[in-house]
Amino acid sequence: MTVVVARAPAKVNVHLAVGPLRPDGFHELRTVFLAVSLLDTVTARPGDGLALTVTGEGAGAARGADRVPTDRRNLVWRAAELLATSAGVSADATIEIAKSIPAAAGLAGGSADAAAALVALDALWGTRAGREDLVALAARLGSDVPFSLLGGVALGTGRGEQLTPVLSRTRWHWVLGIAGEGLSTPAVYGELDRLRAAGRVPDGQELAAAEPVVAALRSGPPEALAAALGNDLQAPALALRPELARALRAADEAGAAAALVSGSGPTVAALAQDEQDAVRITAELAGAGVFRTVRAVYGPVPGARLVG
Ligand code: C5P
Repeated sequence: MTVVVARAPAKVNVHLAVGPLRPDGFHELRTVFLAVSLLDTVTARPGDGLALTVTGEGAGAARGADRVPTDRRNLVWRAAELLATSAGVSADATIEIAKSIPAAAGLAGGSADAAAALVALDALWGTRAGREDLVALAARLGSDVPFSLLGGVALGTGRGEQLTPVLSRTRWHWVLGIAGEGLSTPAVYGELDRLRAAGRVPDGQELAAAEPVVAALRSGPPEALAAALGNDLQAPALALRPELARALRAADEAGAAAALVSGSGPTVAALAQDEQDAVRITAELAGAGVFRTVRAVYGPVPGARLVG
């Protein structure tokens, strides 16, 4: 095989309940993931050792947490090494990541790339790992990587890596407002711990139930989903990035059914009534001047898979 192409989606957490810090440095989660139609593409070709290039979001001039590395710090590099080691093959591939999902945005862009790389390299190297093996490798790479493989809608527990698929036949339309500068996920979790220690937010001993959001995702209407959305990381993201309050207000003023911070932020996910409403909200938010990029998306969409 000379070239293999795989794609994987971004995600929005429509429910994200965060428990206390565990001894292993992670937080117990009860989350509902929704895969949305913003996709990164990973192309793998035969190579001598590993070589990685990045185009699109986070390439070249980007700085800080938004900058996507092209060495071992990139989760794709680690995915390649992990798959090669577990399959007993040598890690030879030239990999190109074409990014549409911004980095450090709370959209699991790096996890999407790792999931797409696992699928692409499994095909390129003929390792025939099987879906279950790939999911196990994914969980070792990061908490969100198993969901990036699975896609659709899923309830996530543990640190987010233990997944139960959720059936949803409804197509949900969202508008993503992407900020100019990313937020570090560990920093946002750390801020949550600080807010809790100071008694400024609930302590996380009681994780909010996921059932209301799961029921609303299944059958709608958008008002029911709007009322059920929730994210415990929103308060710490707002504490670290006060401008986010304005961004959330802009989504509200644009007539979104609801708006919340996606994952650890700083992306704002605004729920639309339907596709037409999403187009309208996109135009309003693009004119509001609070986001670097505004993208209309829908979900659920499938997880990482080969294309072409
Ligand atoms: O699993 P992943 O590498 O994506 O996690 C990045 C960081 O986010 C962790 O090192 C941890 O600080 C934080 N995290 C957490 N609890 C989770 C998932 C992530 O505290 N359930």
